Amino acid sequence: MGFTVTRLSEAGAAEVVGLDCSRPLSPDDVAALKAAFREYPILALRDQHLDPVAQVAFSRQFGELEDQVNSQYVHPDERHVLILSNELGPDGKPIGVVDAGDFLHSDSSWRPDPCFATILYSIKNPSRGGNTEFCNMYHAFDALPAELRAQIEGRYAFHHVSKVKNPRVRISPDRPGAKEFYETQERALAEVRHPMVRTHPETGRQALFVSPRFAIRIDGLEPQASEELLGKIFAVMNTPALRYTHQWREHDLVMWDNRCLTHRACGGYVLPDTRRLHRTVVCGDAPFYRPQAA
Ligand code: SIN
Repeated sequence: MGFTVTRLSEAGAAEVVGLDCSRPLSPDDVAALKAAFREYPILALRDQHLDPVAQVAFSRQFGELEDQVNSQYVHPDERHVLILSNELGPDGKPIGVVDAGDFLHSDSSWRPDPCFATILYSIKNPSRGGNTEFCNMYHAFDALPAELRAQIEGRYAFHHVSKVKNPRVRISPDRPGAKEFYETQERALAEVRHPMVRTHPETGRQALFVSPRFAIRIDGLEPQASEELLGKIFAVMNTPALRYTHQWREHDLVMWDNRCLTHRACGGYVLPDTRRLHRTVVCGDAPFYRPQAA
């Protein structure tokens, strides 16, 4: 194996040094990287130099890529690359999504087949802020009190992408047309039902699979009971030991496994400080729950 993997955090992060992701990886390196990814669901691959075409080629080594929903902000050279940025274009409007990931979530959990991995490439970092925070959902499941665990194993929650449907979140005033965008999504997309505890298809471990951003209610519970139960779960997810905060270095390529993590963009920077990342997303499968033998 031509690279090293060094743990960064007990919450499941490691850094990878010595790999050039701008070229096709050897089958051995792909296998070794996938093995590292099963052990560390957050991998920070340092010192990468990738144009959008190379980022797509790297990402495809892990599966087919998801189409981006924010089509007005895809990269002109590669429709699978979404620009996340607060930079302004000549018309004074942001050139990328300004509010991406501002509340804790697992990417595309609002789809019937949510994505497997997200891959973010850092082009420009602000002088302060701009971190990404992760919550390890295997550890969050393990940290649930037995009584809470018994209440949710085998239960389902509904997920939806529209912020209009979720009183826990707010619409960023910095995103032009945001309210209309989320209203259109509210009309166009159905709520999607997923198990609240998800069995990871590769490791077989149980992970919590709800988030403040996308889980809008628990199936079979009255609204108040649903919000109370979700609130207890989110309180457990706030435990600092479950979290890892990634402080971006330029040319970091960070990939994470959405099947056992939630994450959020921490913000904390304002113009003229700018941040720019390029995002690709690898397709996944329908979540399932398999009870484990006691
Ligand atoms: C995301 O949620 O995919 C974006 C995270 C970030 O910009 O830090």
